[in-house]
Amino acid sequence: MVDALADDLRAAAYTTDGVAGLLGAEAGAAFSRGSWWSALRATDRATPERQALAILVRLFLLGAEEPRDRAAHAMPTAGVDALVANDVLEVTPHGTLRAALDIRPHGDGVRDFLVVSDLDAAVRPGAVAFDHVLGIGSASVTLAHAVVREPVRRALDLGTGCGIQALHLDAHCDAIVGTDTNARALALAAATARLNGMSWDLRPGSLFEPVAGERFDLIVSNPPFVVGTGALDYEYRDSGMAGDSLSEKLIRQARDHLEPGGTAQIMANWIVRRGDEDGAWRDRVRGWLADTGLHAWVVQREFADPISYVSLWTSDAGEPPEEAARRGGVWLDWFADQDIAGIGMGMVTLRAPRRDESRPPDQVLEEITGADEGLTGPEVAAFFARREYLHDTGDDQLLAARLSTAPVFLEEQSLPGPDGWQTVGAAVRRPGGPGAVLGVDEVSRALLAGCRGEVPLGMLIDLLASVHGVDGDALAEAALPVVREAISRGILYEAE
Ligand SMILES: C[S@@+](CC[C@H](N)C(=O)[O-])C[C@H]1O[C@@H](n2cnc3c(N)ncnc32)[C@H](O)[C@@H]1O
Repeated sequence: MVDALADDLRAAAYTTDGVAGLLGAEAGAAFSRGSWWSALRATDRATPERQALAILVRLFLLGAEEPRDRAAHAMPTAGVDALVANDVLEVTPHGTLRAALDIRPHGDGVRDFLVVSDLDAAVRPGAVAFDHVLGIGSASVTLAHAVVREPVRRALDLGTGCGIQALHLDAHCDAIVGTDTNARALALAAATARLNGMSWDLRPGSLFEPVAGERFDLIVSNPPFVVGTGALDYEYRDSGMAGDSLSEKLIRQARDHLEPGGTAQIMANWIVRRGDEDGAWRDRVRGWLADTGLHAWVVQREFADPISYVSLWTSDAGEPPEEAARRGGVWLDWFADQDIAGIGMGMVTLRAPRRDESRPPDQVLEEITGADEGLTGPEVAAFFARREYLHDTGDDQLLAARLSTAPVFLEEQSLPGPDGWQTVGAAVRRPGGPGAVLGVDEVSRALLAGCRGEVPLGMLIDLLASVHGVDGDALAEAALPVVREAISRGILYEAE
């Protein structure tokens, strides 16, 4: 039945481009902002050739009811009876049909996929079920963007859900294991794999239990990281583990499942207690990393106060307002008891040392919150390469190297004063680079401007020293940490 449905969906051009073409730019944009009516209107106006596509969009994306003959027209190969028997469609009390699952096209810019999940709470009345299988959410997309897409042999998608991460892994991993505690999630992930002509090894179980004793080149996980009381209300969101212990366990246990040189990329949340707001989250997460022996880049992307945090999670389960308020109240009381000031939300990337590597663990924990500073696979890979370069390159080697400055902007902060604008601060920024910003003074900005891959850094520093009438060695000593920081942030790099 799944293969027959795949044929029908393909025949109707039920793809990201097909749907975008049907809806048109404006209704498509409105739909992606959560507005349904203009998309429905666009499907009403479909040409006869696009009728099958319009019916599929109405059923699977817009939650509309369709008469049996129209559904049969759109899915002639799978057949309406088989789709109802397999819980893809359901018969309404009016005898019409509606979707029992969300099946949607999803693209990565190169390939087009179909993803099967449960219907969103916005489409169906009432709270979602305990074993509700979440569709593609913002955390799914954030993780998929950040994954290092280098070809590897074995990958693990821990907490696979609808299979969205495994879908993306398929292009660059020879073998994929997906795990989940939710049997329904594994069934829907299997349907996602099959609809896309893929095959994954899907296993039930919690955390790393289903892969005990196994190692992977790449581990990705968008787990139920939500910090809470330990209640298990919804499987997609709650781990049943109190506080941030799920994130802690995943981070502590990852090293036993990484091949040398392997990478783990994990979405995680961590508790920030009252009085610790000033960056002490780093100590908490550093404690989780302490005995792992792994290199790490931990990025806190957001910090949410308790009410914002709890509201985020109580709003997506579709519960009646009184129930959401009751649950939120219990949650907030628990946060207060635990002295929680808020929750840090971010991404943890772990890298196991290669077999031939003797470098001590290099662990960087930082806050990068700019909307245009999201992590991407190439940026994550480049970050680890730059950190290794810095470790392997002594100061003398650095002074002998020809460095180039990446395309950056100089940003100045100025205040109006009695003599016109007074510059009070300046920084260089590499646009699009996460955390790729460096405060500069007059000398370091001159140094960055001079790094064009033509002369060794040491020579450039001597030149600057004579222009500014200062000692060359003293300037080199002051400049080297800035140069290292600039390299770490991808602002400077060694020219070929
Ligand atoms: C937020 S969803 C993420 C789904 C998907 N990977 C994504 O990126 O959108 C978390 C998934 O983890 C599963 N899960 C819950 N507890 C788990 C555990 N202890 N071990 C493994 N998976 C778990 C849930 O059933 C759910 O499918």
